[in-house]
Amino acid sequence: MKRLVLLISGRGSNMEAIVKACRAEGWPAQVVAVISNRPDAGGLQFAAQHGIATAVVDHKAFASREDFDAELARVIDGFAPDLVVLAGFMRILTPGFTARYARRMLNIHPSLLPAFTGLHTHERALEMGCKVAGVTVHFVTAELDHGAIVMQAVVPVLAGDDAPSLAARVLAAEHRIYPQSVRWCVEDALVWDGERVCHRDGAPQQLLLN
Ligand code: GRF
Repeated sequence: MKRLVLLISGRGSNMEAIVKACRAEGWPAQVVAVISNRPDAGGLQFAAQHGIATAVVDHKAFASREDFDAELARVIDGFAPDLVVLAGFMRILTPGFTARYARRMLNIHPSLLPAFTGLHTHERALEMGCKVAGVTVHFVTAELDHGAIVMQAVVPVLAGDDAPSLAARVLAAEHRIYPQSVRWCVEDALVWDGERVCHRDGAPQQLLLN
C-alpha cells in the first residue's frame, strides 16, 4: 500500500476527489493524512469525517519560510508518505523542501503550463483573449509551477466567460485529471525520460474537453 499525504489550504475539492477515487477504485494506496497551513481550511472537516488524520502547520506561526518548511517536513515525514500531493496548497516552497520530495511530490496548477504561472490564471487567460484554458498536474521542483508534466486538460474559453465561470469549467477538469495522475504514481505507471515523464503504456496524458 502506498501512503499518500495531501496538503491543502482551503476548500479541498481536489483532495476530496482524490480520496473518493482512491476508495471507490480500490487503489493500492491510502490517504494517511491531510495537512493544512490554515486552521480554517474547509477541507479539514471532510478529511476528519472520513477517518483521515489531519494536521495544521500554520505558516503565520513561523518567522521564515525555512522555519515553516522545516516544521511542515517534520509533520509530513511523521506519516512516512510515498507521495506528497499538493491540492490547492497555496504556499511558495523553499528549494530545500522541494529537493527533499523530488519526484515524489505533485502539484495541480489551473493553467496550461508553461503559460500563466502564479496567481489569477483565469483572469489573465481572459485578458489575453485565450481561446482555450486548462489545468496541469506536474511534479514539483524548486521553480514555481515548473517540473515534469504528468497530465494536462484543455477546456474551451466561451463567449461571455468571466473568471468564475472559467474557473468552474477548469475545476471540473481538475477533478478528473488529478485523481488519474495520482493513481498513475501509485501504480508506478510513470517513467522518467530525462526531466519528462511518460505513461509506461502510452496512455494519453491529456484530456480535451468541449
Ligand atoms: C484549484 O483550482 C487548484 O488548481 C488551485 O487552487 C484551487 C484549489 O481548489 N491551485 P480546491 O481547494 O482543491 O477546491
